[in-house]
Formats: sequence, structure tokens, C-alpha cells
Amino acid sequence: MSKVCKMRIHQFGGNDVLLADQVECSQPDAGQVLVSVHAASVNPVDFKIRSGKYPAVKEDRLPYTLGRDVSGVVEKCGAQASRFNHGDEVFSIVGICGGGYSEEVVVDEDALAAKPSGIDHIHATAIPLAGQTAWQGLFRHGGLRAGQSVLIHGGTGGVGHFAIQFAKARGARVLTTVSTENVKFAGALGADVVIDYRTQRFEDVASDLDMVFDLIDGETRERSWNVLKKGGVLVSTLTEPSQEKAKQFGVRAMRYTVEADGDELAEIAALVTAGKVKPHIQKTFPLAAAADALASVERGHSVGKIVLAVA
Ligand SMILES: NC(=O)c1ccc[n+]([C@@H]2O[C@H](COP(=O)([O-])OP(=O)(O)OC[C@H]3O[C@@H](n4cnc5c(N)ncnc54)[C@H](OP(=O)(O)O)[C@@H]3O)[C@@H](O)[C@H]2O)c1
Repeated sequence: MSKVCKMRIHQFGGNDVLLADQVECSQPDAGQVLVSVHAASVNPVDFKIRSGKYPAVKEDRLPYTLGRDVSGVVEKCGAQASRFNHGDEVFSIVGICGGGYSEEVVVDEDALAAKPSGIDHIHATAIPLAGQTAWQGLFRHGGLRAGQSVLIHGGTGGVGHFAIQFAKARGARVLTTVSTENVKFAGALGADVVIDYRTQRFEDVASDLDMVFDLIDGETRERSWNVLKKGGVLVSTLTEPSQEKAKQFGVRAMRYTVEADGDELAEIAALVTAGKVKPHIQKTFPLAAAADALASVERGHSVGKIVLAVA
């Protein structure tokens, strides 16, 4: 059986634990699809997993191939996977078993969608995990509707830059916090009010909001309760918000984990095809330089997405 290159960790630690291994090709189970990876994107969850700080990935999953996003071409379909055919261009979140930093990966068929036709694999792979996190946070959990207002903390990172565009496409009023260097970028994404968190306190600008979408946590979260209107909602991708505080301020508050959903990804793909949403690529690295790509994301100031070019 032929071998493929996978960027794997055999132990948890710093970037030096990431190794390029030659591994036998995986085979898809009945409901799965084997994808030949053209591009994989890098997410903060990858360095959390690498360092052993992600609860769902413990020693029993080692050796572990990093990577939760791919765009590529269908190589082989499992016996009961019938939605796609050999040669189709697809993109997807990769399950918690990982595998995106690789020349080939097995993905559940239900997680896949057809790659938007107008963009290449580099741009497509930027979308699934960050895009679906933004979509689910705003709409599934936040219930954001046209005419409502949302403050997005961290509006120019992977999740944030999609959240601004999705909320605008839905007809919401968008406020966002970003650093000085990214004020222009956030405005170009469509944000109505861009708050430079280095020079301004968002509480001085924002009040009576329907939603806070918190991608930052810590003191940013704690200062956010006050800007919500009664009946508003705080949605976080990080730690569980205090229900006591939520009650005190008369709002809902929750933390969630993104879920793969091919139908939802297809809905996002339609917005991309229509030109209403554009993934922004900050930088591309070759697969072999995955450790450098991960170090870049770990610095915590990504503008859009960092992507690995695989094929
Ligand atoms: N629960 C889930 O399922 C889930 C899914 C995806 C992501 N996440 C988590 O959500 C967080 C965001 O993910 P991501 O992919 O968007 O991360 P990312 O691409 O690394 O972006 C982080 C952004 O935060 C900004 N930032 C840093 N400090 C800030 C502050 N004090 N105020 C406002 N912005 C600040 C940075 O911009 P500046 O350079 O402008 O500071 C950067 O753009 C990560 O912690 C990630 O692990 C959770």
C-alpha cells in the first residue's frame, strides 16, 4: 500500500513535537470519504491539541495528525457514501480524530460540501471550522436576526472576520473590537463601528446590544455584560459564562463547540459564490513548514487565516 506524508505528534509539547511521518493511506469506513488534500488550514485548536491542553484529545489518540480543515478532491467513497463521486472538489471540517495536515484524510460524508467554484483550495480550506464556528455562534446559538445589533470581540481573526461578514449579510448592525493595525481591515469587511481596543473602551461606544459574540474571554468578557440589553445574549467560543452574572443582567449566556455540518457549509459556500463573503488569507506555508504556520497562529494576532498548501 502506498504511503502519504502526515504531520503528526507522538507526544504533547511545543512545536518541536510536530514530525513529518510517512504513513500508509487510511481507508474510508462505510459513511466516509477519502479526500486527497490540496490545502489545510491552521486553527488555534491545533496548538491547544499539540500542547495537550484540549480535553477531547488525550494520550490514547497519539500519534495524532493535526488539522481540522481541508479542501481537496474525493479519492474514494465508503460503501454507503453516495453524495459525492471520485474527482469531486470538496471541503470540510475534519473530525476530532484530526488529519488535515496530511496529503490524504478520511472525513465523514455528512461533514462535506462541494467547494465553491469561484475560489481555489487555499481560500476554500480557510472556511469550514472558522466559518461554521461564526455561523453557529451568531445564528444557531445567538439567534441573530436582521435589524439586531452584535458586538464581535476579535473581529479580524479566523472566526471574527467571517462573523462580521455573515452578520452584515444577514442585515445586522455590527460593532467589533480590533487592534489599531486592523481597524481598516475590519471596516473593509463591513463592520459599522470599529473599536480599537488598544485606545478605546468598548463600553464607551457600545450599549443596549442584542448580542455579544465573545472570541476573547477574560476581562473582555467581564466588561461585556453591561453593553447588552435585557433579553440579549452573550455567546462564547471559550469558557462557560457565569449563569449567575447572566441572571443578574437579565440576559442569556452560553459557550458552545462547533459541529461539522455539510448542509450548513453548503449554505456558507453559496454566500461565497455570490461574492457576499470572502475568506482572507494572511499567509500560506508548505505542509512541511506546518510548525512555522502553527507558531504564527499561536502568537494570537492572525488577520484572517493561515493556510498550508499541500498539493
Ligand atoms: N468553541 C469552539 O468550537 C471554537 C471554534 C473555533 C475557535 N474557537 C476559539 O475561539 C477563539 C478565536 O478563534 P480564531 O480562530 O478566530 O482565532 P485567531 O484567528 O487566532 O484570532 C484571534 C484574534 O483575536 C484578536 N485579539 C487578541 N486580543 C484581543 C482583544 N483584547 N480584543 C479584541 N481582539 C483581540 C486578534 O486580533 P488583533 O491582532 O487585532 O489583536 C486576532 O485577530 C480561539 O481561542 C479559538 O480557540 C473555539
